[in-house]
Parts: sequence; structure tokens; C-alpha cells
Amino acid sequence: MSQSARKILVTNALPYANGPIHIGHMLGYIQADIWVRFQKLRGHECHFMCADDAHGTPIMLKAQQLGITPEQMIGDMQRSHEADFSDFLVGFDHYYSTHSDENKELAETIYNRLDKAGHIKTEVIEQLYDPQKEMFLPDRFVKGECPDCGAEDQYGDNCDVCGATYAPTDLKNPKSVVSGAEPELRKSEHYFFDLPAFGDMLKSWTRSGSLQNEMANKLNEWFEQGLQRWDISRDAPYFGFKIPGTENKYFYVWLDAPIGYMSSFKNYCDTTSKADWDTYWQANSEAELYHFIGKDIIYFHSLFWPAMLKGADFRQPTNVWAHGFITVNGTKMSKSKGTFIKARTYLDHLDPEYLRYYFAAKLTSRIDDLDLNLTDFAQRVNSDLVGKVINIASRCAGFIQKKFDGKLSSNVADSALLEDFQSAGADIAELYEKREFSRAMRDIMALADRANQYIADKEPWQLIKKEGAEQEVHEICSLGINLFRVLMVYLTPVLPKLSADVQHFLNDTFTWESHKTALTDHPINKFKALMQRIDMKDIDAMIEDSKQQQPQATEQPAVANDELKKEPIADEISFDEFAKVDLRVALIANAEHVEGADKLLKLTLDLGGEQRQVFAGIKSAYKPEELIGQHTVMVANLAPRKMRFGMSEGMVLAAGPGKDEIYILNPHDGAKPGMRVM
Ligand code: MSP
Ligand code: ZN
Repeated sequence: MSQSARKILVTNALPYANGPIHIGHMLGYIQADIWVRFQKLRGHECHFMCADDAHGTPIMLKAQQLGITPEQMIGDMQRSHEADFSDFLVGFDHYYSTHSDENKELAETIYNRLDKAGHIKTEVIEQLYDPQKEMFLPDRFVKGECPDCGAEDQYGDNCDVCGATYAPTDLKNPKSVVSGAEPELRKSEHYFFDLPAFGDMLKSWTRSGSLQNEMANKLNEWFEQGLQRWDISRDAPYFGFKIPGTENKYFYVWLDAPIGYMSSFKNYCDTTSKADWDTYWQANSEAELYHFIGKDIIYFHSLFWPAMLKGADFRQPTNVWAHGFITVNGTKMSKSKGTFIKARTYLDHLDPEYLRYYFAAKLTSRIDDLDLNLTDFAQRVNSDLVGKVINIASRCAGFIQKKFDGKLSSNVADSALLEDFQSAGADIAELYEKREFSRAMRDIMALADRANQYIADKEPWQLIKKEGAEQEVHEICSLGINLFRVLMVYLTPVLPKLSADVQHFLNDTFTWESHKTALTDHPINKFKALMQRIDMKDIDAMIEDSKQQQPQATEQPAVANDELKKEPIADEISFDEFAKVDLRVALIANAEHVEGADKLLKLTLDLGGEQRQVFAGIKSAYKPEELIGQHTVMVANLAPRKMRFGMSEGMVLAAGPGKDEIYILNPHDGAKPGMRVM
């Protein structure tokens, strides 16, 4: 090994213990696992830690709904998460829980050190309180009318209809999602972490070099807006750790969640003695520390977390690597479309290595979202893995077995070709190191094409018929097997199970360095089918299965309870009152995203000559290009409303509970723009 062994600690964001793992989550875990497996294959000391994120209000309330203790619920959930990860071949060295003794002790240590250094401040704040349930309400647990546009049934942090953001205390007619009671304002003392005191330290951490561009830009935006103190306390009742020196204050879940990285490693060090905890976490540690996370939690990991560590005299992360979000078939995963696919549902129908390869083939080092198009998925896996890579072995193995006693030749046929394969290793390693997996897969598949071309040109199946050509056939097929072997060394981080089967077939044990050698005069085992092609039928069955899955009690987010209730029918109105509403058929002439709006699409509606601009809160359910050219129904005489993004001149009609379940109305064929709807 040319490089000396590095000491590396890797984590992936900890999944919440209140729901099952889905294939969106899997992206980050698979990305981190590939990187870790690569480092281990190279011979480095690398430890891969994770845990369930077990605290917080949603978890507390959900356990109450289920009538079990939070401890029981998080225990069940952790077991199912661990099974999902293991079946996806995600090889954590340790999987723990943030609800642990080690985590409590470390959270207290960090808090006490921050407090002692003067970084904790208290302040009395006013918040909405549920007098019936006797608890303070987080923003998402209050609903009411939007203070900007008056839309009903909006969460306490932002409006689904007009995109406004506000404080829960701004809502009109607020209701507690937990009990339905009208919340009241109550005062309570809160504890704050003095983030602004770490501004300079964070800026220099940001500039220290290797941050992703998008991450550095985001951070600069936040620095410009000015850092805010961070509210780290929650009042009882809360499922979490009590703040030292208080009677009824708890650490906010996000305070102890990242400390879970340290405490999982602590438990691992203490129980296995495989590493020394201090070496990795002390302030002047020279070990490397990387956190893989999704783009939604950058703020916590690149501001709060390094500042907390600094303030408590621990080392800071070497880097925080964010990835984008998964969409399925071009849109957000949707329960009704059957594309909200749980890890377990996938595993019931398909091989985990298909998804590992597909993610690898699409992952870059950037934060872009990544689409899992299921047709492309099947084609890509079938053509690359089965059609290219495995094909090399299956074309050569039979000859070795039948004609040459299962033994590879003592000489390789075309050493220049083998050398090309071997010398590609340096670039491919560099690409893995930099998390440019998609480019690595492209390079590997280009080599696979060359290997197949070589075999096609040599036609061993013709040659074998020729007198005296045996030796040549032996060398051609042995080279084919060796080319296959080099490719499988390169693919080992992505396809660990396939690689293990191949190592057995080749009677070999891979390290990254194996690519530099060739197997000559070497017995191999009988070739067995290594991977099946994906059958579209299995994908269809998985989608059907996902659609069928009735949301079980354990899987509903606690906040969604009220959404499951049927909307009551509104008070009776007269025909004349109804006739005042002028409904018209409209052609969606254009649809586009609105810069800065999370929920809205901007529609241009054609009423048969006249055009209207309408903002509709349907972004989570539709892509603009899906809508263009469709007919729908609009309220044509609604008074224009000024919204944050411009005037809205009407409203399109849509059904559904909201979120990603929204269905715009679509008249039968033949209805023309401008026709009145009665
Ligand atoms: N518990 C917090 C993380 C605490 S880390 C100290 C959390 N949990 S989560 O279950 O919501 O998400 C776990 C990981 O999955 C996060 O990195 C998140 O960004 C990622 N993803 C969740 N949905 C995803 C997609 N649809 N696509 C890609 N990653 C996704 O956040
Ligand atoms: Zn609004």
C-alpha cells in the first residue's frame, strides 16, 4: 500500500424512530456505505456509525396514540430499521440509539461545558399552549387560517396556499392539532445556545477548504442574514433528556441528536475495543470525521454542530457532505401513486444491489436531487450489470470449466489490454474518494464494453473448432476472466454481495490492490448465475404493493390525525347563491415554478381567448410539464388577490387532503376553454 493507513470515522444522519425507512432515506445510507466500503477495501481504518434518533414531540405523541411507552416504540422501530439497513447491505460497524446512557452523559457534558464558558443564555418567551393537553405546541402542531390570504387549515409555520411564512401566533382561529382546543399564549423560560458568538469560527471553518460549493453558498447566505441564538430547551411533557439543574426543561431533540454520532462510537469503543474514542474526538484529533446528510438538515450540521463541538472543546468535523433528495418517476414520492416505497416493500420484490448500483450510477459529489425512474432503473441495471459485466464471465467460464479443467492459463493473452484495465484503477479510486460515483461507474462500464468487444472479436466459440487452437482459446478466456475480475474489484464497494459471490467463484479474496495482479495457473470454481435480470413485472408488483399498504397506525405521522377525518359537508346554500360562482373550463396554457415558493405553481389559464394568471398550491403533487395542455375547471369570477409573488386572478378546482395528494379536476374530452360549468 503506497498510502499509509488513515483513521476515518463516518456517520450518516440518524433516522427518526417514528416511521419506517423508505427508499428516499436509502440514498444517503447507500452513498455513505459505498464510500466506507471503498476506504476499508483500500486498507484504511474506517468506522461507520449510526443510531436511531429517538427523542422529540412527534415520537412522544405517537407512542401515546399507540398506547405504548416511547421506550417500547423506539425499541421496535430500531429493530426494524436495523433489519432494513442490513438487508440493503449497509454495513454499519455500530447501530445505537440516542436514548442511551452514553448519549445522556455526553449531552450533559457538552451542555455543562457550553454553560460554563458562557454560551447558554435564558429568556422568557411566549408560545402557544394547549390548555386541554397541557403542553406547549410546536409550530407544526397548530393549525388555523393564514394571516396573509385567509386560507383555512394551515400549519403554524407557513401557508400551503400562498406560500407565506409566519409565526404560529399569527394564525387566525388557531387550533391545537393534538386536542382541537384553542391554544392560548403562555410564557416560559427557554435556554438558548449563543450561536452568534461562533460567527468567526464558523466562517473560518467554512473557508478551510473542501466544502461543497452549494454548501459554502448556503452558509454565506446564512452569515449575511446574521446568525440567531438557538432555542435548545423544551418544556415538559417531552420525551428526551432533562437539562441539568432544571426541573421540567428538556433538551430539544436536535441538541442531542448529533451527539448520537459520538455516543454510538463511544458504545462501540467500549464494547469492542476496536478504536480509542478520545483519539477521534479530542480537540486536536488528527483522525478524519465525515458526516453524510440530506440537504434538508445542512443548517444543523454545518452551523450548530461545529459550534457546539468547538464551544465544548471537542474536534470539528473534517467535512459535512450533503446529498439531494430522491424523486420517483419525476415527482415527489407519493402514497397514492404507489411510489412512496418502503425499504421493506422494495426488498420483498427486488434485489438490494440493483438499487445500490442505480444510485451509484447517478450519484455525484453535488447536492442535486436524483430521480429514480423505474423504467430507466430496470434498463440500466439489466444492460450494465447483467448485459455487460456478468456477461464477460458467463461467456468465458464455460470453456475454462469444460475444456481446461477449471484452471486459468499460466499466460495472459493480451497483456496490453489487461494493463489498460489495471491502470484505470488510480482514476477510479480518485473518483470514489471524491464521491463522483457516477463517473466511476461510467469508466467501469466503458471497460466492460472493451472486454466484451475483445471476446466478440476473438470468437472463442469458433476458434475452439479449429485444430491446435486450444491454447489460444484457453488464454483468451483466461484473460476474459481476469478482466472481469478487475472490474469486480472496482465494483466491490457498490456490490458487496455480488463481489463476495465472485470471490468465491474465482477462489480469491479481494483488496483494492488485487486489481494490480492477475490470476494465472489458478483453479476457479464452477460458474453459477450471479444475478437475474430485473423483470418489469416485479417493479409493477412493488408499486401495487405500495399502493395497497393501508397506512397502519404505527406509520401515520402524529400530526396527520385530523387530516384523516372526512371533511364535513358545509352549510346548505340556495341555487342563486351557487349560481354566483362562475365556473369555467380552462386550458392550462402554461405552468411554471415560482422562484422562492415552496408550494406554488404559476399557471396561465386560457378561457378561450382571455388569459388569466393563477397561483395554485399544487407544486407538491404536479410537475409543471405534466399540466401544460390539460383542461381543468376554474372559478372565473373570484376577486383577484395580491399574493407575495404577484396577482392571482381566479382559482383552479382540485380535490384531496392536500400535501402530495391533490387532484385537479379534469372535464371529459370535448369540453372547450371558456365553457361555463353548471
Ligand atoms: N433525525 C434527523 C437527522 C438527525 S442527524 C443528527 C432526520 N431524520 S429523517 O429520518 O427525517 O432523515 C434521515 C436522512 O434521510 C436525512 O439525511 C434526510 O435528509 C434523508 N432523507 C429523507 N428523505 C429523503 C429523500 N426523499 N431523499 C433523499 N434523502 C432523504 O432528518
Ligand atoms: Zn396564505
